Amino acid sequence: MPHLSAMLESIASKEPAKAAACEAIAGLAAAAASIAAVIRQPDAGAALGAIRGSANADGDDQKALDVLADEMIEAALADVPAVAAYLSEEQDDAVQLHDHGTVIVASDPLDGSSNIDTNVSVGTIFSILPASGGVLQPGRNQLAAGFFVYGPQTTLLVSFGKAVAAFQLGDDSVFHDMGWAVTIPSDTREFAINASNMRHWQSDVAGYIADCLGGEAGPRKVIFNMRWIGSLVADAWRIFRRGGIFLYPADARLGYEAGRLRLVYEANPVAFLVEAAGGKAIDGDSPILDLVPQTLHARVPFIFGSANEVDAFTRYRS
Ligand code: F6P
Repeated sequence: MPHLSAMLESIASKEPAKAAACEAIAGLAAAAASIAAVIRQPDAGAALGAIRGSANADGDDQKALDVLADEMIEAALADVPAVAAYLSEEQDDAVQLHDHGTVIVASDPLDGSSNIDTNVSVGTIFSILPASGGVLQPGRNQLAAGFFVYGPQTTLLVSFGKAVAAFQLGDDSVFHDMGWAVTIPSDTREFAINASNMRHWQSDVAGYIADCLGGEAGPRKVIFNMRWIGSLVADAWRIFRRGGIFLYPADARLGYEAGRLRLVYEANPVAFLVEAAGGKAIDGDSPILDLVPQTLHARVPFIFGSANEVDAFTRYRS
């Protein structure tokens, strides 16, 4: 398939049940191309990375670009009659859009935004759910999910559940197929965790990472490499490319009892892609996609990546 619109048109014509999700993705792609253009501005880091002096529904500092990206996505979805409601990490409550819409779009409009003024990749994550299921549905119900990365290239990973397709934004403002069969290798020797939180970890995470650090002489008998960009979309993209395991576990810090990342806006869509690419995504015990969110902004411990390595981690759970 040469480009995103062709893929969406083809899916919508063959599977009418997915047509509304396709329309929503087309709207999101237009918004993402505009967000990428804003981020490319020479002064974007300085001007848009400035803290606006407020915190979002999750207590994170809101950056100007967080708010702008949220407004751009809401405006794009307001033009798509198939979208019943918009759930945003940046907004306290669901935004009702179209009475006769059949899908709900949940989004983290600008994930990793603390990296904006350091010129590190950030992104837009999205999840598309049937409106009939209401706003608190397990990720297994997702019709489609994906994320855009605003980095050296502007890219998109998207799935309707069976496979993951990868696109790159061209100078012509079109998302072109990267011709990449996205699969996460089952094995890896690379982990991603914010190791500065080590003193707060629970024994399972501490034991697992200690053994990864043991090298050839340790119990794992292999040398592991570590990567932590601190921007979920960038860390995830790397894992889709070459495998790896990502951990943002629960820890002993106040407010981190369920980790940091949000189930509805971050973990569910990434987990949907991970499973479609042959990887695993869990909260420590259960598949992320089986969890029913208790609130819109609920956090969840999030471990995902190469299937055999996620299994290896679970053996440290008591
Ligand atoms: O949720 C926002 C986010 O920036 C993610 O993109 C990233 O994985 C995580 O937070 C980084 O958290 P920390 O700064 O605690 O390492």
